[in-house]
Amino acid sequence: MNKRSVSAALLLLFLAFHISLFSAPARQISIGTGNTELVLLAGKDGRLYQLHYGAASPAGKPRQSASRDDEAYPQYGNGFLHEPALRVTHADGNTSTDLRYVSHTAADDPARAGVTHTRIELADPAYPGFRVALNYRAYAAENIIEQWAEITNNEPGAITLSRYASAALVAKSTAYHLTQIHGAYMREASLAEERLAPGIKILDTKLGVRAHQFRAPNFILSLDGPAREETGRVIGGALAWSGNFQFAFEIDNANRLRALCGINPFASEYILAPGDTFATPALLHTFSTEGRGGMSRNFHRWARAHGIRDGAKPRPVLLNNWEATHCDFDENKLISLFEGAREVGADLFLLDDGWFGNKYPRDNDRAGLGDWEVCRKKLPNGLTHLADAAIARGVAFGIWLEPEMVNPASELFEKHPDWVITQPKRELTYGRNQLILDLTRPEVRAFERSIIDNTLAPNPGITYVKWDCNRYVTQPGSSHLPAGRQSHLLIDYQHHLYDLMRHMAEKYPGVMAMLCSGGSGRVDYGAMRHFHSFWPSDNTDPHQRVFIQWGFSQFFPSNTLSAHVTNMGKKPLKFAIDVALSGAFGIDRDISRWTPAERAQVAAASKLYREHIRPITADGDLYRLASPYDQPRAVLEYVSQDRAAALVFIYNLGEVAYPAIKPLGLDPAKTYRVREINLAPGATSRLKPYAADGATLMRDGFAAPLRRSLESAIIEITAE
Ligand code: DGJ
Repeated sequence: MNKRSVSAALLLLFLAFHISLFSAPARQISIGTGNTELVLLAGKDGRLYQLHYGAASPAGKPRQSASRDDEAYPQYGNGFLHEPALRVTHADGNTSTDLRYVSHTAADDPARAGVTHTRIELADPAYPGFRVALNYRAYAAENIIEQWAEITNNEPGAITLSRYASAALVAKSTAYHLTQIHGAYMREASLAEERLAPGIKILDTKLGVRAHQFRAPNFILSLDGPAREETGRVIGGALAWSGNFQFAFEIDNANRLRALCGINPFASEYILAPGDTFATPALLHTFSTEGRGGMSRNFHRWARAHGIRDGAKPRPVLLNNWEATHCDFDENKLISLFEGAREVGADLFLLDDGWFGNKYPRDNDRAGLGDWEVCRKKLPNGLTHLADAAIARGVAFGIWLEPEMVNPASELFEKHPDWVITQPKRELTYGRNQLILDLTRPEVRAFERSIIDNTLAPNPGITYVKWDCNRYVTQPGSSHLPAGRQSHLLIDYQHHLYDLMRHMAEKYPGVMAMLCSGGSGRVDYGAMRHFHSFWPSDNTDPHQRVFIQWGFSQFFPSNTLSAHVTNMGKKPLKFAIDVALSGAFGIDRDISRWTPAERAQVAAASKLYREHIRPITADGDLYRLASPYDQPRAVLEYVSQDRAAALVFIYNLGEVAYPAIKPLGLDPAKTYRVREINLAPGATSRLKPYAADGATLMRDGFAAPLRRSLESAIIEITAE
């Protein structure tokens, strides 16, 4: 074919496509969960609109019309007036895109009941080689929708993606309140709510790796004034992405809000070669008519069933040595720590940082990262011996890794200075004296994989890994990527990181794993699918942990929130124990520094956790009954799925008169016994055990058996 006939053929194709689009009838596409519905419309003009997101609408509800401002995935350059979801430079340099509906399919997941995948194909009539597929996976039982876009280039040349959101949800209300989860090292997961004004509000991060230190990729959008705990319409969103993200909330003149969510477009142009498809990370979202509480319960249920590793597997009671020793230990010291592990009821000893490095021993955070051979001076008999020594004392053994990083004082850096992420002509900048290895380099990928394999394969006694990551990207350059692909670095990094995490999870299915990042600098459902729990904060002062765990509980279930009893903040031991008991319980302390009575108290708590608490918190529904943001106390309740048992955790943070605690979620008709558990040794409860039916209990409640600040109680409610 000569040039002229090619153009004629393309023109014909274009016209045929246009004619079929404009003559196409409008059609509604409904994406439903048990209680909610997202309704889209492929309009007569072929454009895709969002008609409704909210409570499931009655079948046969009359079709509404939509305006351009209701577009479900707006593109730049086709007359849309607000912030677009997609901006593309096509192979011929055209910077506009105009997508029209082509087809859609909806299929039930053959492996998972109640999971339906709807896929909507869109194409640009002027660029037949360019395609976008919008994907919606609806989880009926959990009321969660997982949404992502796939962008395919079959144009004759490369195209550039400059904006490629995962989702562009539209909400309609008169007053929007947005809660973000912000923080910093030792102050993670603070909730901050504000009323949104017209214009754009951006929540984002540009830190690349350990990207969530100052802001987690989650949001709570209330449509009925400030978000309430159990009433009101709330949309919750969580981006499954460990790198740079951006949420842009734009309110237009008609008070319509669009939430654009996805990878941060800042410095992230992505060049797509012909034949390639770019899949965005998924936004998980839920629409709750039961306020933040309903939103959290949806996320928790989804996470346990679909979002995290082994959601139903009991998390072991860990004894970690970081607070006790930092890097200052040897084999004898560790064995002395194992000795008492069983005594306090630990299931597993988790050896933290400091076990490796010979030429540059890891005695502090200035040296050794990257040299993953066991330190012969500290551990002359190696890891197998150490794991065996733990196992012989009745506890399993786990280990700390930070595979992505290197200290300049290391043999690795001496050999491969070009393996790190940095910019040419610039002095290296450090974070915690370390640098990040460039995962876009195949040799680095092979090396990081070998760290996992060389540690785990020869040591089957290691059955737990804490995966840490302690710095941000400040010089986003790769000596591996070509000049024109530098903006791919932080995106490709995440994909390779997930491959590595998946490798560990799939090759070592019996090894449980905790996600850590200098506290919780990287916690999201992209990474959490490969992990059992995460480390919310190095701040284990139980007073401050109440807030940190409260913040994370918005999106993450109890069994993912590692919570260890330490001595930080020197708060009463009973209070520290009770705060840790509401999460995935553990201990981080040289237990020889506790008195025998204190050790017995911790041991009793471990037993209680294993037998009475974990079975309820691990898959119970969470009701947050009193917020520490509203009053100086926090009250949390977990109710078992069969409503036969509940636990109420009460943490006093001040001395004021509090109203009665009214549990929620009980069966009104069942009779329950109410009693305080985990009493301090020798103490008697101020709450006399009693029985009441669920309706009475929920109506009248009970007075907390506490008086002073830093007192705490756990109330057990069991059906007779
Ligand atoms: C940061 C983590 O948050 C800590 O728990 C500990 O593992 C240290 N890193 C070790 O370097």
